Amino acid sequence: MELVERHIEDRDAPAFLMGVTPELSAVTTDLTAMDYTPQMIRHIWPGDTAHRRALLGNWLDTKLPNASFRYGVGDGSFNMLDYPGDFDALWCELTRILRRRGRILCRVYLTPDRPGTMAQLRKAVMKGEIAGFPAFKWRLEMIMARESGNPNVVKDDLYRMFIAQFPDRDELVRRTGWRREEIDTVDYYKGSAKAANFPTRAQLQATMPRSFAAVRFVPTTGYELCERCPMLVIDM
Ligand SMILES: C[S@@+](CC[C@H](N)C(=O)[O-])C[C@H]1O[C@@H](n2cnc3c(N)ncnc32)[C@H](O)[C@@H]1O
Repeated sequence: MELVERHIEDRDAPAFLMGVTPELSAVTTDLTAMDYTPQMIRHIWPGDTAHRRALLGNWLDTKLPNASFRYGVGDGSFNMLDYPGDFDALWCELTRILRRRGRILCRVYLTPDRPGTMAQLRKAVMKGEIAGFPAFKWRLEMIMARESGNPNVVKDDLYRMFIAQFPDRDELVRRTGWRREEIDTVDYYKGSAKAANFPTRAQLQATMPRSFAAVRFVPTTGYELCERCPMLVIDM
């Protein structure tokens, strides 16, 4: 999150946070966070203060006044949307609520042009080459996105793919060192119509309006698969 702060020139300017990520709650001294899930605001948000507040609402239709913010920040926020329709709506809303020469800063999960195959992933897992379960899940979702040609990955499809490819959870624990309870969290996805999206960089860029002055992808560091999770920096 230090990386986000390094790209914020005015620490007192108003900022809009897409979500309630606590690590981003103090990027400026005037921050408005928004999330449409009340439980997330209740349980994850560190609380309102004179410098920050959380609103219940949808980023695609914030109801906030025009040109209210200098910064629009988030962490994985774009990956929560339905590709590509919601992207159009969010670019439009951000363009409206950010000031001229505003800046968007958001970490994005991007599928590489060659994310590997399911067989390669299975082999890597069984050799214990993937350290953490979250990185494994991202890899799996990115392969699914690539193979289907659709960046949106429905959670129930992820669950069913996991069951088909990795039927023996005891063996997974033995081979990978992942905790059984963490592996079992995949069961929450059973029957879920929710989706996340994992576009390639080109697919993401194809959604952007031509009006942006500059678009950059700044590498993030220090965790597994960070090479697939750059920070998007857009100067409007
Ligand atoms: C900020 S995102 C990503 C969180 C985490 N940093 C990650 O990378 O997985 C997660 C949050 O977005 C919220 N969310 C997703 N789409 C939304 C939308 N259109 N409007 C408001 N909140 C939304 C969800 O309720 C959830 O709390």
